[in-house]
Amino acid sequence: MKFFIDTANLDQIKEAQDLGILDGVTTNPSLMAKEGIKGEENILNHYKTICDIVEGDVSAEVISTDYEGIIAEGEKLAALNPQIVVKVPAIKSGIKAIKYFSTKGIKTNCTLVFSPGQALLAAKAGATYVSPFIGRLDDISSDGVELIHKIVEMYNYYGYDTEVLAASIRHTMHILQCVEAGADVATCPLSAIVGLLKHPLTDSGLETFLSDYKKLNS
Ligand code: E4P
Repeated sequence: MKFFIDTANLDQIKEAQDLGILDGVTTNPSLMAKEGIKGEENILNHYKTICDIVEGDVSAEVISTDYEGIIAEGEKLAALNPQIVVKVPAIKSGIKAIKYFSTKGIKTNCTLVFSPGQALLAAKAGATYVSPFIGRLDDISSDGVELIHKIVEMYNYYGYDTEVLAASIRHTMHILQCVEAGADVATCPLSAIVGLLKHPLTDSGLETFLSDYKKLNS
C-alpha cells in the first residue's frame, strides 16, 4: 500500500518525507487555504515547492467546474512538474476532462467520490486515481470503508487500472481497514501515519530494555 500525506503544510510534508515511507501528497483548496496560500502565483509556487520536497505524485486540485476551465487549469498545473496529478471533481464536466487528460498522458485524481457509480465513470474515463472520501461518509452515518471494498471489487472484476486512493482518512483504524479492503493508496494526516506506531507494549518493553541495560552498565 502506498502512503500519501493529506496536507499542504510544508513542515508536515518534510517530516513525513524524512520518515522514508512517503509515496506522495494530496492537497485540496481547503488545505491550501489553511496554510494561507492565496493568489494564483503563490499557489503554483507552493505546488512546485511540494514537488521539490517529495519524490512521488502530488495532487493539485482545479477550482473550475466547467469543462474548458478545468482543461485550462489542469494543463497549467500539469506543466509545473511531471509529479503533478490534476485533481478533478466527480461531476459531468470533470469526467469529460479526465477523459481528455488521459488521452494527453496527464495524470488525474477523480475527487469527491461517494458512490461506486462515480468510481465506475472515473475508471472508464481513464483516471489515474479515484478518491473515495471515507471519513465524510462516516460523518453522515454511511459506511466509508464499505465503499472502498465495493470499488476495489469492481475494479478487480473489470481489470481497471485506476488506483483506489482512500481519502478523508481520520485515524489509524481507517488506514488498517483500507489495507483489508485492498486500497492501493491511503492519503492521511501525519498524525494517523505516526499513530500506527503507537503500542503500549512497545513503550513498556523499550523502557524495560533501557533500564535493564542501565543497571548492568552503570
Ligand atoms: C484528499 O484527497 C481529500 O481532499 C481529503 O482527504 C479530504 O479530507 P477531509 O474530508 O478530512 O476534508
